[in-house]
Amino acid sequence: MATEQRNQAEDGGVATAAGDTLTVTDNRTGESYELEISDGTIRAMDLRQIKVSEDDFGLMAYDPAFTNTASCRSAITYIDGEAGILQHRGIPIEQLCEHASYLEVAYLLIFGELPTQPQLDRWVFDVTHHTFVHENIKKFVEGFRYDAHPMGMLLASVGALSTFYPDAKHIDDPEERYMAAIRLIAKMPTLAAFAYRHNMGLPYIYPDNELSYSENFLSMLFKMTETKFEPDPRLARALDILFILHADHEQNCSTNAVRGVGSSQVDPYSAVAAGVAALYGPLHGGANEAVLRMLRRIEKTENIPDFLERVKGREERLMGFGHRVYKNYDPRARIIKKHVDEVLEATGHNPLLEIAVELEKHALDDEYFTSRKLYPNVDFYSGLIYEALRIPAEMFTVIFAIPRTSGWVSQWMEMNDDSEQKIARPRQVYVGDRDRDYVAIDDREGPEKITGPPARRPARPRRGA
Ligand code: ACO
Repeated sequence: MATEQRNQAEDGGVATAAGDTLTVTDNRTGESYELEISDGTIRAMDLRQIKVSEDDFGLMAYDPAFTNTASCRSAITYIDGEAGILQHRGIPIEQLCEHASYLEVAYLLIFGELPTQPQLDRWVFDVTHHTFVHENIKKFVEGFRYDAHPMGMLLASVGALSTFYPDAKHIDDPEERYMAAIRLIAKMPTLAAFAYRHNMGLPYIYPDNELSYSENFLSMLFKMTETKFEPDPRLARALDILFILHADHEQNCSTNAVRGVGSSQVDPYSAVAAGVAALYGPLHGGANEAVLRMLRRIEKTENIPDFLERVKGREERLMGFGHRVYKNYDPRARIIKKHVDEVLEATGHNPLLEIAVELEKHALDDEYFTSRKLYPNVDFYSGLIYEALRIPAEMFTVIFAIPRTSGWVSQWMEMNDDSEQKIARPRQVYVGDRDRDYVAIDDREGPEKITGPPARRPARPRRGA
């Protein structure tokens, strides 16, 4: 807790006190306060003591979108955006992608340490043996319209899982927590694949316990009449790498949603459904789809200079470039890029790759982009891999949700173990009217014309049933 200093700073402004403290002078009152600095932060609650009078509520921090507010202390993921560094539990993402499987990384995120061989065997066994969903979930997915967005189906079906596992609400029970982690990680690919097959009008494919996590997902997506689906190992490994790269990214929008909703002590399925909902938004998941649309619009490498001129003229945005946190090459983009060639070797040439590579070269050679620290982000190449895997654009965000589940679960667990956390409940700056009287309906004044809701847009044309 900060120590209040009632003596005014000599120059009347903000002075720097000795040690890790911040001296603030309130120029409304002339009072000075010494706030403790720890981990490069001051405690927002320490501002509350700064008042103009005894009945003043006290100073608050105003930070819409939390752009400069740390909402938690976390030991899961470290990012240095300036240097282009991403580490999980201290281990660089490059090493994890080179040596680990996605399930190994999921274990690391959740338990904080790399598993020993017996631990990993048990973990993989448990995940593999919880991939099936209750048959009623299948019926539930069948109830959606044939063209329902797969992310909407995923969101609803993850939320529905909470009704199948009511004991998950015992969030402090270690066994329940473990089972929730296993079930969420295990069932997410099944739910995602069911959503895809539903859109395609194809029968749902049950999990195959003999396949690895990513192989099984490919099997559930693409298996047709063959008795055993045998995925190309290059594609399975590329997908596993994409899963590792998307597993966690500290306090992003969806993770913040999971923590915020989870802070009410709701069950983990409901908290993770909140994460899926947040990821559904185009500002979070979905940029890779925009990259593909952009590359198609550019059409051929000769058009790149013109396109970049339009970007500089602010008529276009260079999708897949720039990041709120990374002001350097996104380390995930560098790793994905290495795997694109491998995937295309297996699936065949894609002319969009040539455009992407040339576009990147041109942009990195252009002062407009380098001076703004705009470098390729994770989405610049991931869409190309998904497309090569014949995955439709609507599924891109769904596939993002599969690995991010391990990040959400680990962050949810960390939050529940953090004695400093309470139900998330931000403050507001109230800017509306006050102390108005209720007016009887006959005495109210308003425009003569009756205003209703805006005109409806024409309904989507219906195909099929
Ligand atoms: N193309 C062209 N110019 C850009 C781009 C871009 N992709 N990104 C930023 N800029 C410019 C801005 O116009 C601004 O220029 P100015 O200072 O002359 O006005 C400057 O660079 C700084 O940009 P900001 O908007 O302040 O950067 P911010 O951190 O708010 O935005 C964002 C980050 C949203 C990712 C942005 O770079 C962008 O829109 N990129 C394209 C979309 C994209 O690829 N999103 C995926 C991100 S990765 C992920 O979510 C998993």
